Amino acid sequence: MRTETGQVYKLKDYKPTDFVVERIDLTFELDPSETKVVSRVILHRREGVAADAALVFDGDELTLDSVQLDGNDIDPSLFDVDEESLTIRGLPESAPFEITVNTTLSPDTNTKLMGLYRTNGVYCTQCEAEGFRRITYFYDRPDVLAVYTVTIIAAKDDAKYLLSNGNFLGSGNYDEGRHFAAWFDPHPKPSYLFALVGGDLGLVEDTFTTMSGKEVALKIYVEHGKEGRAGYAMDALKRSMKWDEEVFGREYDLDIFQLVAVSDFNMGAMENKGLNVFNDKYVLADPETATDADYANIEAIIAHEYFHNWTGNRITCRDWFQLCLKEGLTVYRDHAFSADQRSAAVKRIAEIRLLKAHQFPEDAGPLAHPVRPETYKEINNFYTATVYEKGSEVVRMIRTILGADDFRKGMDLYFERHDGDASTIEDFLACFAEASGRDLKQFALWYSQAGTPSVSVSTDWNEAAKSFKVTLEQSLAPTPGQSRKALMHIPLAYGLILPDGSEFNGQPQGGEAGNGVFHLTKRKQTFSFTDVPGRPVLSINRGFSAPVNIAMEQSADDLAHIARHDSDGVSRWQALNEQAMRHLVAVSKLARDGRKLPAAKELAKILVDTAADESLEPAFRAQALALPAESDIAREIGSNIDPDAIHTAREAVLSEIATAGLAVFSKLADRAPTGPYSPAAEDAGLRALAGTALAYASIAEAEPVRAKAAFDASNNMTAMTQALQILVHQFPGSDEAEAALAAFKSRFAGDALALDKWYAIQAMAPGAGTSARVEALLESPDFDRKNPNRMRALIGSFSAGNPTGFNAPDGAGYRLLAREVIDIDKRNPQLAARLLTAMRSWRSFEPRRQKLARQALVSIREAGKLSPDVGDIIERMLA
Ligand code: PHE
Ligand code: ZN
Repeated sequence: MRTETGQVYKLKDYKPTDFVVERIDLTFELDPSETKVVSRVILHRREGVAADAALVFDGDELTLDSVQLDGNDIDPSLFDVDEESLTIRGLPESAPFEITVNTTLSPDTNTKLMGLYRTNGVYCTQCEAEGFRRITYFYDRPDVLAVYTVTIIAAKDDAKYLLSNGNFLGSGNYDEGRHFAAWFDPHPKPSYLFALVGGDLGLVEDTFTTMSGKEVALKIYVEHGKEGRAGYAMDALKRSMKWDEEVFGREYDLDIFQLVAVSDFNMGAMENKGLNVFNDKYVLADPETATDADYANIEAIIAHEYFHNWTGNRITCRDWFQLCLKEGLTVYRDHAFSADQRSAAVKRIAEIRLLKAHQFPEDAGPLAHPVRPETYKEINNFYTATVYEKGSEVVRMIRTILGADDFRKGMDLYFERHDGDASTIEDFLACFAEASGRDLKQFALWYSQAGTPSVSVSTDWNEAAKSFKVTLEQSLAPTPGQSRKALMHIPLAYGLILPDGSEFNGQPQGGEAGNGVFHLTKRKQTFSFTDVPGRPVLSINRGFSAPVNIAMEQSADDLAHIARHDSDGVSRWQALNEQAMRHLVAVSKLARDGRKLPAAKELAKILVDTAADESLEPAFRAQALALPAESDIAREIGSNIDPDAIHTAREAVLSEIATAGLAVFSKLADRAPTGPYSPAAEDAGLRALAGTALAYASIAEAEPVRAKAAFDASNNMTAMTQALQILVHQFPGSDEAEAALAAFKSRFAGDALALDKWYAIQAMAPGAGTSARVEALLESPDFDRKNPNRMRALIGSFSAGNPTGFNAPDGAGYRLLAREVIDIDKRNPQLAARLLTAMRSWRSFEPRRQKLARQALVSIREAGKLSPDVGDIIERMLA
């Protein structure tokens, strides 16, 4: 058994480096198995640092060839190399000096996809968080900013394009078919933003003229033959550049912006300065192979990486504890961008769904951590929904509390004051406090306290006095390492909806409550309204202004009143969703006990009415009709979960809605747009509604015929996957389902991204039988276990997207995941650790499944040498 526990890094231990880097010149001679790297670094000793202090550079799995001081080999007695560092002693006391480090790398055998690796023959780097130390010995930490000059040499037929950060300096030919290119990035940057790409790629070009009239060359590199799929990404890039100028006043700052799409990538994309590297899933799109959701993701991620140029690159993080400084803020910015490009309400609904599906369970389980963690063992494991999504919600709350004008003032101050800095959350908050004159001390707890706060809400209407009281009480349960919590500042947007559907505008007594927001800052507060003309219905946490759980007894009639009259579309959806959730939770509990399931008449009626309401946006109607997922219901129930009971209950409710609305659904199912495909929000909304209606109609008819016809008639990937999913999930094993699967497979053979959808749909088919199917797919000869997208499509979809299949009562799903995690960990620890987090809520299941889940987790722990990534997750999950 593994007993060593590894080093723990702590926020409070932050200390700057002893030496200051002035600049770095890198030369690469690319070769698949023997790439030579020469790194020349100019440094000086920081003022006040002892004259005998040694220089300690980070390194990981490097072959060191030689190391020089000012051009001369360093005496072996003056330097040491171990597993993770290079230490050099006897350096000049105050004068600047040059350290040259020569290393040899093998990109072909780098399976971790960190550092310099190859993907489909293309050389590519990934340095965030700690990948640069796999290229050369250096201060691989975000507070060491340096100006980089990079020269890349390669055989022309091995690497036609040679790219790095910054502006192009020049290129030329050597003998024997070799060539070189040189790049200079004038903006000081940390090593995690370094990038290099070399390869024979297809190129798509465009230009953008910035607000001050500078022309920027835009280049997107993709695999040959896929140039036609890069158009939407280019368009999204130009819209992002324009939006950041208009909304945040931020202009691009180099002559060229390059983006490369690669097929092996651990994450979504990476914001390397001037040279973004993308998972090709988030670049490539055409109507035949990409769904509406793919288009929306591409738009959001292109924007996200571009926005990092200011929030991340120009202003970076002092240390990795501050990760949310760039990620939470940049997610906030990409959300705001997408909201402006599409329907803001529909976008917000999708965000709320995602936050509750991914971040709330994280915050409620063994992996809970603050938005700004205070300790970590493996930073790779902190690229989480909490840092990203909750981090974004925290920025959104700052805007809610300050208002749009002061928020913008605070952002302007942040950009002005910290441009070129490696900053902290304290720096960030100080800008908003100063711009608004508000004290944000209590608010700052959102960064340091883990867990989702609960707010219980009660109301009191006094008919005689015409007064209405709202009492709010907050609580926050303990999380790992935090047993006692302080009171938070929770901004809750609200509305009082009068019997006639209009809104009451009077201001309450009892606490701060301007602009329709209750500021809950104490444990318990009562806000009192007077002169209210009739009994109002409280619409609370409108637009999900705070990421909290609301506990409130609200009658179905009151929820229906909100769903009908709230001026805010998101709140109307929240009310419908709440009503559906309550019913589903109640029915699931009955199903668990094997009791007769009650009818869902009222719910069915309001949902069918919503479906048929032509005054509502189609995308909104689709969201309203999408019942809470089985995993959402499980989260709401919280403990002793039986996924089969939830499935049974949800199916029963779906069937009742379907039957009640068959006439409406069969009409809507045919209402997808007919002209040429456009990914624009309006058409996507129509397709979403048609797809949802098709699913309901198929349930009511209990026949695969309609879905099979839709599959055969489909002329875009959205319609095609909607129909395929219905066939495979609702009519498993039917001739229609099998025929559609076969047709899809042969049509898209060789198109990895399209086939990922084929794997994912099968992996998410409900029922205990699916693990056998997943096993078979894993063994099929064309399944590439080394590709992260493929593994996520099959294993990730199964374990995180199939409650009844993955949590099968015999434990087969758990065993499958454990076996694969152990195997993947040997090649790609980051991917293994991420897949494993699917089990983070294992303690919320009923005892039998809990026991089987624990056995699987223990089998991983006992499996021999684990990576720090998997070791850290296992340790926290079993703690
Ligand atoms: N910084 C990237 C982003 O969010 C994510 C990432 C992290 C990519 C680590 C690769 C490695 O934009
Ligand atoms: Zn990011």
